[in-house]
Amino acid sequence: MADAPSISLKKKLEGKVAIVTGGASGIGEATARLFAEHGARGVVIADIQPEKGKSVAESIGSHRCSYFQCDVADEEQVKAMVEWTVKTYGGLDIMYSNAGITGSFFQTLLELDFSEYDAVMRVNARGMAVCVKQAGRKMVELGTRGAIVCTASVAGEVGGIIQTDYTMSKHAVVGLGASGETAAGIARDKDQLRFALGGPDAVRRKSGAHRRGFGEVFRAFD
Ligand SMILES: NC(=O)c1ccc[n+]([C@@H]2O[C@H](COP(=O)([O-])OP(=O)(O)OC[C@H]3O[C@@H](n4cnc5c(N)ncnc54)[C@H](O)[C@@H]3O)[C@@H](O)[C@H]2O)c1
Repeated sequence: MADAPSISLKKKLEGKVAIVTGGASGIGEATARLFAEHGARGVVIADIQPEKGKSVAESIGSHRCSYFQCDVADEEQVKAMVEWTVKTYGGLDIMYSNAGITGSFFQTLLELDFSEYDAVMRVNARGMAVCVKQAGRKMVELGTRGAIVCTASVAGEVGGIIQTDYTMSKHAVVGLGASGETAAGIARDKDQLRFALGGPDAVRRKSGAHRRGFGEVFRAFD
């Protein structure tokens, strides 16, 4: 008898090792749980909330999930976290670069507070790029057919009156995605990296060529 669709989907991440940044809460937490449910043998929650992160890792199961304290904008910390993941679980197949902050809601263009702007850009733009770079380098080094997914947002496509800094930061993530897709397209010849943007609100490329949502994480393994 053929497997039920849910069962075959569960097998999709079997044996895979994943890093989920911002996995201590919200979307990252839900994704870390989903990865484990769908068969990942190692899930590393990289976050700056030790209490929440450790508790999520314990509830998923200490045999296959760990918390690693890591500020995504600090390249040395991210590098150490990637090395630790490979050493602990024997590989790295998925980087889900998801950690992000919103800053203050009422950041209108004429009232931009640049200390808030710096904080938002540091995590959302720099942090995403650091994680993509370090995971990508490790996957290439190991010869892994890896998948890299970044959480963008509809704010990466449209602007609004408020949240100017957040909107700018998510546009930067879309730019990172475009560069990543191009690089992955080249690497794909060698069957290496696959790159995608995801989000709770499907992210549409400006070209209108395609829409991508959370399913992309799984489609990346087709
Ligand atoms: N919630 C939404 O409606 C929504 C919509 C569009 C996009 N997003 C994006 O989804 C992602 C997750 O958002 P969420 O709603 O789950 O938020 P959340 O606040 O619940 O989770 C974000 C996580 O990132 C962690 N984090 C923050 N700064 C960090 C740093 N420097 N290093 C490591 N970890 C750090 C936080 O501790 C937290 O656990 C973000 O990138 C956000 O911009 C969210």
